[in-house]
Amino acid sequence: MEPLIEVKDICKIYNPGENEVRALDHVSLKIDKGEFVAIIGQSGSGKSTFMNMLGCLDVPTSGEYFLNGTDVSTMKDNELSVVRNKEIGFIFQGFNLISNLTALENVELPLIYRGIDRKTRRELAMEALKMVGLEKRVTHKPNEMSGGQQQRVAIARAIAAKPPLILADEPTGNLDSASSKEILGILKGLHKGGRTVILITHDNGIADQAKRVVRIMDGKIESDVINEHFQE
Ligand SMILES: Nc1ncnc2c1ncn2[C@@H]1O[C@H](COP(=O)(O)OP(=O)(O)O)[C@@H](O)[C@H]1O
Ligand SMILES: [Mg+2]
Repeated sequence: MEPLIEVKDICKIYNPGENEVRALDHVSLKIDKGEFVAIIGQSGSGKSTFMNMLGCLDVPTSGEYFLNGTDVSTMKDNELSVVRNKEIGFIFQGFNLISNLTALENVELPLIYRGIDRKTRRELAMEALKMVGLEKRVTHKPNEMSGGQQQRVAIARAIAAKPPLILADEPTGNLDSASSKEILGILKGLHKGGRTVILITHDNGIADQAKRVVRIMDGKIESDVINEHFQE
């Protein structure tokens, strides 16, 4: 299968010079289309730095990153934002919904930036909200929904434009265990439907839900294994 992600020997150094921090230290990784991968590591291991690279929110100090066949490692901010819009759906720990917009409006909003017309926006947003089981909550605002429901809105927002890559950073970090289970079930369902899902976490129990687990430590990949317990 063709890799969606190909990271070749990347390093990320913060504060080059005396107080430099080598947050990523010669990392190479390939992820194929349709994989469901957890990236796990302790606090300070380099997860957020790696997520920022994979999500085209930052570029490496050295090395190459090919996303869907395009070298994004040397792109400028404006080019990166075009790639992000097109290729990546983000899910964050804190949901990042806009409080005075309804669920439907929250899901529609990024579709405006993708230049999608009004009617198609509504159709894609409704389809995505249905996929996360919220078709009866579309007029609710974030403060009228539970944390789990808010995260489902955020997932609908991430998947509405059907980006090839879903990047979730500690998506269950603010949720109780029942809601966490629900969210992981939805991510698994997205994988089943052929999406590529990358889940970033510090929690072994969460990482165990993914099909492949990549462990990072001190900015290096320590292990990369297929999860034997994973059930499709
Ligand atoms: N903007 C920054 N400037 C300097 N050092 C940073 C910056 N961001 C992260 N670091 C350092 O890089 C290392 C990796 O951090 P991070 O990627 O946030 O790890 P994690 O998300 O796994 O906790 C840590 O030592 C952290 O202190
Ligand atoms: Mg972090």
